Amino acid sequence: MEVRKLTVGYGAAWVLDQVSLQIGAGEFVGIVGCTGCGKTTLLKAMAGLLEVQDGEILLDGENIFSRRFDRAVLRRKVGMVFQYPEYQLFAQTLEKDVGFGLKYSRLSREEKQERVRWALEQMGFSYEEIKDQSPLSLSGGEKRRVAIAGVLATKPELLMLDEPLAGLDPMAREMFLEFLEGLTGQGVSVVMVSHNVDALAQHAARIIGMKQGKIVMDGSCQEVLGDSRALRTIGLLGSEAAQTAELLRANGVLPGSGLPVTYEALRDEIIGALTGEKGENR
Ligand SMILES: Nc1ncnc2c1ncn2[C@@H]1O[C@H](COP(=O)(O)OP(=O)(O)OP(=O)(O)O)[C@@H](O)[C@H]1O
Ligand SMILES: [Mg+2]
Repeated sequence: MEVRKLTVGYGAAWVLDQVSLQIGAGEFVGIVGCTGCGKTTLLKAMAGLLEVQDGEILLDGENIFSRRFDRAVLRRKVGMVFQYPEYQLFAQTLEKDVGFGLKYSRLSREEKQERVRWALEQMGFSYEEIKDQSPLSLSGGEKRRVAIAGVLATKPELLMLDEPLAGLDPMAREMFLEFLEGLTGQGVSVVMVSHNVDALAQHAARIIGMKQGKIVMDGSCQEVLGDSRALRTIGLLGSEAAQTAELLRANGVLPGSGLPVTYEALRDEIIGALTGEKGENR
């Protein structure tokens, strides 16, 4: 997907101001920025859900705003998990809810059922146990996982997630992130908005930083999350590992430049400093 000079406004002010970016197949991209900077608006626009004032969005080279563009293609290829997905559950049973996005697909009944089973299992549920339950019987975090399963079941080529980690406990969070990484290995592109910089440092290869409706940083995870000064200008702090490294550097414990953004990289750097050698992964 390619976004060119996208401009979106609600009323008088621009919420997105000439935003351009490209997402390649199999990329895992994190989007960071303080609250109100336009992250959700960007994702919704990329999912074709907003009217835009200016700019283009190309999906496999086709402009989604063109009159000739078949919107069904967008619905098939792009999936979005909303910021508060638990409010989207409404069917009588979880099976129907998770299968909702497949209603108009050409899959057979058995194939649809398999998809629903697969999606629920990926989100840590037992299909047989849960399929006939009402969404109302679930806890907040469970509802969230079911809502994510509903998007997974459609097997999008581009999966966009708006703050999906809130409400997942640490184990579920880690498993989910590893699952997403697995999807990118199969060529699925994942775009994730998150305030959890540490999770992004571990799993996203590329980070986009936004401020007041503009993209102000776009680079490798190391480049963006390791640049604590630039991060502070958009109201964010680096990963905990990067902050620790910064503190160690300021006190002369670590040499060099460029902050390690994960604890693994930091550990390597400390070992390197202690032994006088470069760490294995550097
Ligand atoms: N439907 C709307 N009508 C009017 N203004 C809106 C609407 N949706 C969002 N905005 C405004 O657009 C700006 C960007 O909102 P957006 O939801 O994209 O921010 P965000 O980066 O996702 O923030 P958060 O981290 O809090 O989720 C905000 O100033 C918000 O008030
Ligand atoms: Mg938001």
